[in-house]
Amino acid sequence: MTFDVDDVLARLTEDEKVALLSGTDFWHTLALPEVGVPSIRTTDGPNGVRGTKFFAGVPAACVPCGTALAATWDPELLHRAGTLLGQECLAKGAHCWLGPTVNMQRSPLGGRGFESFSEDPHLAGVLAAAVIRGCEHTGVQSAVKHFVGNDQEHERRAVDVLVPPRALREIYLRPFQIIARDAHPGALMTSYNKVNGTHVVENPALLDIVRQEWQWNPLIMSDWLGTYTTVGSINAGMDLEMPGPTRYRGKYVDSAMQARLIKSSTIEARARKVLEFVARASRAPVSPVETGRDFPDDRALNRTLGASSVVLLKNEDHLLPLSPSLPRIALIGSHVKTPAVSGGGSAALEPYYTVSLYDAVVRALPEAEIRYEIGAYAHQMLPVVNRLLSNAVMHFYNEPVGRDRSLIATEPMAKSAFQLMDYNAPGLHRELFYATFLGDFTPDVSGVWEFGLTVFGTGTLYLDDEMVIDNTTQQTKGTAFFGKGTIQEVGCRRLTAGQTYKIRVEYGSANTSPLKTIGVVHFGGGAAHLGACPQIDATEMRHQAVQAASEADAVILCTGLNHEWESEGFDRSHMDLPPGVDTLITSVLQAAADKTVIVNQSGTPVTMPWVDQAKSVVQAWYGGNETGQAIADVLFGAVTPSGKLPLSWPRDVRHNPAYLNSTSVGGRILYGEDVYVGYRYYERKGQEVLFPFGHGLSYTSFSVSPDVDLSHETFSPDIPLTVTVRIRNSGRTAGAEVLQAYIAASHSPTPRPVKELHGFTKVFLQPGEEQRVPLCIDRYATSFWDEIEGMWKREEGVYEILIGTSSQDIVARRSFRVPRTAYWLGL
Ligand code: BGC
Repeated sequence: MTFDVDDVLARLTEDEKVALLSGTDFWHTLALPEVGVPSIRTTDGPNGVRGTKFFAGVPAACVPCGTALAATWDPELLHRAGTLLGQECLAKGAHCWLGPTVNMQRSPLGGRGFESFSEDPHLAGVLAAAVIRGCEHTGVQSAVKHFVGNDQEHERRAVDVLVPPRALREIYLRPFQIIARDAHPGALMTSYNKVNGTHVVENPALLDIVRQEWQWNPLIMSDWLGTYTTVGSINAGMDLEMPGPTRYRGKYVDSAMQARLIKSSTIEARARKVLEFVARASRAPVSPVETGRDFPDDRALNRTLGASSVVLLKNEDHLLPLSPSLPRIALIGSHVKTPAVSGGGSAALEPYYTVSLYDAVVRALPEAEIRYEIGAYAHQMLPVVNRLLSNAVMHFYNEPVGRDRSLIATEPMAKSAFQLMDYNAPGLHRELFYATFLGDFTPDVSGVWEFGLTVFGTGTLYLDDEMVIDNTTQQTKGTAFFGKGTIQEVGCRRLTAGQTYKIRVEYGSANTSPLKTIGVVHFGGGAAHLGACPQIDATEMRHQAVQAASEADAVILCTGLNHEWESEGFDRSHMDLPPGVDTLITSVLQAAADKTVIVNQSGTPVTMPWVDQAKSVVQAWYGGNETGQAIADVLFGAVTPSGKLPLSWPRDVRHNPAYLNSTSVGGRILYGEDVYVGYRYYERKGQEVLFPFGHGLSYTSFSVSPDVDLSHETFSPDIPLTVTVRIRNSGRTAGAEVLQAYIAASHSPTPRPVKELHGFTKVFLQPGEEQRVPLCIDRYATSFWDEIEGMWKREEGVYEILIGTSSQDIVARRSFRVPRTAYWLGL
């Protein structure tokens, strides 16, 4: 459907124009059918398309997380990922995808670091632009987020990010600038935080950069419940308050207009923008019903994405690839049977399916004797009950248990966890309601079972009507559920395998909780997670794992973090793996270092105190539906690893430049590291890292000729500089190398990073094949933000282009000259 924006605007009353400026519910914009304006559906984002429901959602494709996508360094592949995401939106009836996330990993501890691409703004911008173009190719609009400075979660709605203008421009705004230049998507989502004193959502200086300086005119929407005032945000240029119903617009705008705090022409401009967006978005051929699509081609693409993202960090004595004819293999670790497919928070979704590493190895090695040991748990909350659960339902009421209750609705349940933020049923009092979760639990192991109940709201667990956990009368604040939940309360029962027990949780929605939390969005329905697992002695678990390792011909130890450790609403408090995991890895390495491969799954770096003892270490991120398959493809050589780190991997979190400034203190976070984020800091400081930015090994080898050709030796802002590099696959396997072009401005009197990434290309080569590869350098490469002039300054002098296969492996270099200094603004 489409309509004429001028015509519609001319026919609307002022009240209708105002009504267009906020959503109607959690995901939709206002429809005005009398004038032919449809409602637009938005959906999260960013590693899949959840659709309209957090609770009982329609399953979806789950692509690898942001850092994983970035580790492919492959814009063409990410364009295809974007197209898949667009198609998923169409199936879910959504016109607008709330993604990608392009905040920066200034610290490894940022709770949502896994969602964003890179610590480097060029890499982040170029890759995000590719995903956006792929998505918008389907007609679906992308809402790139969060503009700007939501680089950590602590007090995210209140914190004032104090960032020097130069760092703001060169690091934090740069990905958005590249996106404005190369993809200019239909929408932009503001961040929750303040930047230098003013919330971004009502910060004209920042929003004017987008519209005036960059000449990009997206629909600007607030993050969810991230509009804080009526006048400020409308006058600053923020068009759409989300979600609805409105909290700051509607009748408040009327009052503000009467007081002449908002002009009629401003309302007209905001309404025009919403209508332009709706007209553009409504052309997307969305499905009338929210449905799934799970096609073989999508699965194949997801598998390629996953395998291309895997980074081979270390591989001594060519331990990898493992031979597919190994007779006895030990699979150890928390993530072998439970793959971490995505981080937590609004990125989480119900995947169509997941492939575990266990299943993939069984498939790859049908003849092998496979022994599995968990070795050490890595969960924060006990694992959700699903496969041992049957006949589970949830009954909803407006009255608490013990009172006369009328049943309002019943929902079938596949697992013992739920988020009810957007749940509604006719007659339910959304602000305050109650529910009873019922199900049959049949343990598969006899012995003591541990149960854990975490809630945002209240909850009490009964087993065969006997109370096991009270998380109702006594609550302690924790970090779950966007930082709104309690800690996990635990209780135990001795159970017999094969016998069925009645599980009952009496639940009360968010407002029944006596806990008052601030800092993150409030969602009335609340949430709960009930988990269970057999209580096993940690030493015994580890001992079994070590024994399995000793007896096997090869050991794959796969562990890491998951959606509970990396999520929304809070940051990590340290960089370590979950308790007990390092001890497990060390013990297995002591017994079997020469045949053990360590696979880590996390969205951002973790401490690896055992790394010097390990021969092979693989970084596997959160890999989406095909996580286990993608890992197995690399481990057994079906795919030659080609992933490269999109962020530096510090040995110790205290080495990170943001370490002393990673949480809100007194309401502000000082970005004291200035432009020295990630490798820009480590290199300038001479601080050794465990694995550098851009690092990643292969099963083949490449030789790069030290002579490179330059299109011209004198830089001109209008003609991109092209550097051509000769590379040959000198090994025996087909593979891909990422050529990285860094620019060094060592002549500059202005302090600068030692070098900065300004170009890259991924080259696929057969054994013996040679190619001449062009890399383009744009005008950003020679400029820095001059705070005195408030402009980009291209400084005269001799620059160097360094061609690397990582930020530390520079294989060729060449100089060029900028003849005279110039200033510029824009794109
Ligand atoms: C997140 C956004 C997300 C929105 C809707 C917010 O809490 O910050 O990234 O798109 O919720 O779920």
